[in-house]
Amino acid sequence: MLRRVLCTVLFMGALPSLAEVSQGHISVVLLGATGDLAKKYLWQGLFQLYMDQVSSGHSFTFHGAALTALEPGQRLMFDVLKKLACPPDESPNRCAVLKDQFLKLSQYHQLKTAENYTVLNREIETLLRQEGLKEAGRIFYFSVPPFAYTEIARHINSSCRPPPGAWLRVVLEKPFGHDLESAQQLAADLTSFFREEEMYRVDHYLGKQAVAHILPFRDQNRQFLDPIWNRHHVERVEIVLKETVDAKGRTSFYEQYGVIRDVLQNHLTEALMFLTMELPANVSRAEEVLQCKLQAFQSLRGLNKNSAVLGQYQAYAGQVQEELQKAQDYISTTPTFAGVLIHSDSLRWEGVPFLLTSGKALDERVGYVRVLFKNRAYCTQSETLRDAEHSQCKAKQIVFYIGHGALNTPAVLVSRNLFRPVMPEGSWREAVGQSDLHIFGQPLSDYYVYSPVKERDAYSVLISNIYHGRKDFFITTENLLASWAFWTPLLDSISHQPLRLYPGGVENQHLLDFEMESGEVAFTLAEAVELLNPNRLTPSDYRTIQSKFRQSPLVSAWSEDLISQLASDIEKTASRTVARSGQFHLALSGGSSPVVLFQRLARHHYAFPWKHTHIWLVDERCVPLTDTESNFFSLHNHLLQSVRVPYFNVHPMPVHLNQRLCVEEDRGTELYAKEIVALVANASFDLVLLGVGTDGHTASLFPKSENGLEGAQTVVLTESPVKPHQRMSLSLPLINKARQVFVLVLGKGKHDITILLSRVGHEPKKWPISGVSPSSGQLVWYVDYEALLG
Ligand SMILES: *[C@@H]1O[C@H](CO)[C@@H](O)[C@H](O)[C@H]1NC(C)=O
Ligand SMILES: *[C@@H]1O[C@H](CO)[C@@H](O)[C@H](O)[C@H]1NC(C)=O
Ligand SMILES: *[C@@H]1O[C@H](CO)[C@@H](O)[C@H](O)[C@H]1NC(C)=O
Ligand SMILES: *[C@@H]1O[C@H](CO)[C@@H](O)[C@H](O)[C@H]1NC(C)=O
Repeated sequence: MLRRVLCTVLFMGALPSLAEVSQGHISVVLLGATGDLAKKYLWQGLFQLYMDQVSSGHSFTFHGAALTALEPGQRLMFDVLKKLACPPDESPNRCAVLKDQFLKLSQYHQLKTAENYTVLNREIETLLRQEGLKEAGRIFYFSVPPFAYTEIARHINSSCRPPPGAWLRVVLEKPFGHDLESAQQLAADLTSFFREEEMYRVDHYLGKQAVAHILPFRDQNRQFLDPIWNRHHVERVEIVLKETVDAKGRTSFYEQYGVIRDVLQNHLTEALMFLTMELPANVSRAEEVLQCKLQAFQSLRGLNKNSAVLGQYQAYAGQVQEELQKAQDYISTTPTFAGVLIHSDSLRWEGVPFLLTSGKALDERVGYVRVLFKNRAYCTQSETLRDAEHSQCKAKQIVFYIGHGALNTPAVLVSRNLFRPVMPEGSWREAVGQSDLHIFGQPLSDYYVYSPVKERDAYSVLISNIYHGRKDFFITTENLLASWAFWTPLLDSISHQPLRLYPGGVENQHLLDFEMESGEVAFTLAEAVELLNPNRLTPSDYRTIQSKFRQSPLVSAWSEDLISQLASDIEKTASRTVARSGQFHLALSGGSSPVVLFQRLARHHYAFPWKHTHIWLVDERCVPLTDTESNFFSLHNHLLQSVRVPYFNVHPMPVHLNQRLCVEEDRGTELYAKEIVALVANASFDLVLLGVGTDGHTASLFPKSENGLEGAQTVVLTESPVKPHQRMSLSLPLINKARQVFVLVLGKGKHDITILLSRVGHEPKKWPISGVSPSSGQLVWYVDYEALLG
C-alpha cells in the first residue's frame, strides 16, 4: 500500500523518474503521538507540512509512536488523524486527496524497548531500499515529558540514526529544566547523544506570526527605525501574555513551575531578545541571529527580588490541595501572576524599562509586545483643529499583537504619526475596518494595521521551520542556559516572597497594577491586610525615642522611621558642612543594613548637596568592584547611580591592583591613605557611617584583628571569619578622628549584641565597635526597636 502512495506523491509533483529526481525521503517520527499536544496541534502541523511540501521533491512517511501496544495505539492515533481539518485557503478536493494520502503514509509504532527502536530503524531502511529512495533525513519529535528524554535520546542515538549523508533532527518541547542547574544537567545528558545542530528546542512563541515577524520588521524598516530604536526615543516596552484560564487540572505541573518558569523565562524572554538584540547584517543567517541574541543576554542587568511583583489567584491553593491531596493548611508559594522590570545595560537600551507581565485568571486573554515612544512635541493648535492623522502630539507606538484580545488576530500596528511600515507583500496585508475599536487608548484609525494573509498556527510554522532547518527559530543550548542564568537568581530570591492574593477575572480591579521606581517595581495599591495589621501602627507623636546608649546620644524607632530620621540627619550635616567648608566628606560602610538608607537618600533627598559631597568607603571586600559582593557595587546600585555626585568625588577602595586582589606589595592601603590625606583636611572625615556585626565587628575590623585596632596605620588589610575573607578597612584611629560617627543597628538579629554592648566598656580586641569613640567628634547611635527591644 505504501508503495503505491509514494509513487502517487511523486507523480503529483509531475516528476518523471523516481530515484533520479527525488530530493530524498524524510521520515517523521512523532513520539507521544496520542498525547494532548499531538492531538491538538502536532498532527495538524504535520499534515500542513505535507500539503505544503508534497511537490517539493521530497517524499515522506509519518510514524506516530507511543508506549501503548500496537493495536489500541493504532486505533487511538487514527481517531485523531481522521479528524484532521482542511485549512480554509485550501481547495476541498485537493485537501481530501492529500488527506487520504497522508493517512496512508502514516503508521503507528509501539516504542518502548530498545528492540522496538531497532525494529523501527529496520523498517525505515527496508522501505527505502524497496522503493529505491535516497534518505534525506529523519525528524524525531519528542512530545513526551522531559523525564523520558534521556532514555529516548539514547535509543535514537544507538539504533535510529540515519546513514551518513542524511540528517537527523530531534525536536524537544519545554520544560527544559526548572533552573540553571537542572537545565545544565539536561543539556549535558542530551549532548552526549546528539550534536548541537541536530537539536531543535521548541518555544512555540517563536512560531507565533507576530513574534516571528519582529526581526524581519526591524530589518525591513531599518530606514525608519535606525534613528529611533534606542533609549533616546523609546519610553518603555511592554511584553504581555494575559490568560483568563486558571491552572485547574494542571496544578501538578504548575505547582512545580509557576508563571515565571512557565511563561516569562521562555516565551516573553524570547520576544524581549528579538526587540533588544542588535540586528545582524543578514537576518536570514541563523548563526548570526543566534550570536546577536546571546550578546543581548549578556547585556541584561541582574534581577533581585524587588524587580518583580507576584500574585496568586485565590482559588489556586484550594485547587492544589484538592488535586495534589495536600492538607487543608498547605500553603503554596507558587506565583500565578508576575510583573517583572528588566533593564538592558547595552548602550542602545540603558535606562529603558522593559516590563514583562503574565498571569492566569486575569480579566482578558491577550498577548502583545508594545513599544511606546517618547513624545517630545507640544502642539500649539487646539485639538479639534489638528490634523488627527499626523498630529505629533498623539501617542507613538509600535505593537506586535500576538493574538486574541480586542483584535482577535495577529497584527502589526504602527502609529500613523511614526511612519508607514514596509511589510512583505504576499504574506502581510493592510487591514481595514473596525474603526470603532480602540487599541491602547487610540482608535484603530490612528494606526497602520497589518495582519497575515494566511493565519498560521504556531506549530505549523515551527514544523515548517524544522523541515527547512531554520535553527534561528529554536532555542540553542547556549541560549537556553543564558536565559536560565538570567532568571535563576530572581527565582531563588523570591521563593519565600509573599504573594498578593487576587480574586480572578474582572474582580481583580486595580489589585495587580504596579509601578516602577528607581529600577524596582511595587504594587500601586497597598495591601489591604497590611494596612489593618495593628502591629505596624506606631503612635505618630512618639515616632523616635531619644536617649543615651554607651554615654552617647541614641535615636530609636521602628526601622522605617529610624532610617528616615537618619537620612535627614545626614542631609542636615551635609548642608551645614558644605555651607561651612565648601565640601562634605562622607565615609560609608558596606553590608546589608545601609542599603535601605542608600535607597532612601537616592529617592527622597533632593536638596542634598551631592555636587559638593565626596564619597569614601569605610571598608571593602577583596573582590572586583563589579562583583555583586563588592560594597562599592552595592553603593553604586542603590545610591550612586541615582544621585549626581561628580565622578571625581567618588573614591572606591583600591582592592584590585595589578590584576590581583588585595596583595600587600601592591600597597593599596597606602594608596588610599594618601588619597585621604590629599583631600580630607587633617584626615578627619565629616561623617563616618558604621554598622555592627553580631560578633561586635565594625567596618572590616573583626575581634582579635591584628591590624587596624590601634597604631599609626590608617588603612589596613584584615581577615574576616566569613567569605570573602580578605578585606580592606579604615582603622579605628582614623575613624576616631572623624567629626561625626553614626552607627546604624537594625533588626532582631542584632538584639543580643546590642544588649551586650550596653554593658561592656572599651574592649576593641573583643568587640571592635566598643573602640569607636571619636577623639573630638560626636558619636550617635541609631538603633531600631527590634534590635533594642528584641
Ligand atoms: C516492543 O518490544 C517488546 C519487547 O522487546 C515486544 O514484546 C513488543 O511486541 C514490541 N512491540 C512491537 C509493536 O513490536
Ligand atoms: C552516539 O552513540 C555512539 C555509539 O553508538 C557514541 O559513540 C556517540 O558518542 C553517541 N553520541 C553522539 C553525539 O553521537
Ligand atoms: C542572507 O542569507 C541567506 C541565507 O544564508 C541568503 O540566502 C541570502 O542571499 C543572504 N542575503 C544577502 C543580502 O546576503
Ligand atoms: C587641623 O588640625 C589642627 C590642629 O589639630 C587645627 O588647628 C585645624 O583647625 C584643623 N583643620 C581643619 C580644617 O579642621
